[in-house]
Amino acid sequence: ATKVSALSLASKKRKGRKISMVTAYDYPSAVHCARAEIDIILVGDSVAMVELGYDTTQPVTVDQMIHHCQSVKRGVEQSNANTTPLLVGDMPFGSYEFEDTDVALRNAYKFVKEAGVDAVKMEGGSPARARTAKMVVDGGVAVMGHIGLTPQAISVIGGFRAQGRTASRARALLDDAMRLQDAGAFSVVLECVPANVAEAITETLEIPTIGIGAGGYTSGQVLVYHDMLGMLSHPHHEQFMPKFCKQYAEVGHAIQSGLQEFKADVESGTFPSDKYSPYVMTEKERMAFD
Ligand code: KIV
Ligand code: NA
Repeated sequence: ATKVSALSLASKKRKGRKISMVTAYDYPSAVHCARAEIDIILVGDSVAMVELGYDTTQPVTVDQMIHHCQSVKRGVEQSNANTTPLLVGDMPFGSYEFEDTDVALRNAYKFVKEAGVDAVKMEGGSPARARTAKMVVDGGVAVMGHIGLTPQAISVIGGFRAQGRTASRARALLDDAMRLQDAGAFSVVLECVPANVAEAITETLEIPTIGIGAGGYTSGQVLVYHDMLGMLSHPHHEQFMPKFCKQYAEVGHAIQSGLQEFKADVESGTFPSDKYSPYVMTEKERMAFD
């Protein structure tokens, strides 16, 4: 299988070919993403919200992230897909922000050694964050940046809302992006920024940009698995769906109707029919038993 790499992604940007990225959190979602030949699989810290049921991404720990990365890695390896996606692990809140220490690098090594990820992702583009990114890259771990809406900073930002909507904030975002590129990041996620700002950043940078809620001019697009597939949608309780997310399937509805049908079949005795009662004794053993 051909392997997606930082180099092949850079080449895609140069050739004007778009990059696809989707989150995955476990074995089945990884198998599905790999078989669809998605370029990049992100084990996002959005796992905290869509898999673990928290209100924010803040509670998830490094060890929990690694546990999810390990099952995703097995899914990628066992998927029998034609291409092997680039596997990115999201560094969680509190695992890379300390300055003047090697916490970030140690945690990045954990993702590589314990889960076999190809790269880690970190939020923020301040000078301090760029220094951290550089330290991790210098240590030999590829880094994806993430600017614009950075959900780990929810208590500072005040809510999940668009970023970079004034000229000065848009310029600040461009500075952040440049700093991350200079630090050695191989790509940067732009979350919830105006399309023209994402376009300007994409044109200025050499490295590919991956947008989410950032319009159509980025080098690629990323969506959260559960959102894009309608995983949590339910006939009587529509999941919260971000404005920018297109829903490509109604997996939640399929799961609900399957479960409801099973319950009805059990209660009516329709399941299991003879077809699903496969184990039989020989006539002789049965006579001896009866
Ligand atoms: O955790 C996540 O799902 C992400 C993507 C939205 C980029 O960081
Ligand atoms: Na994330």
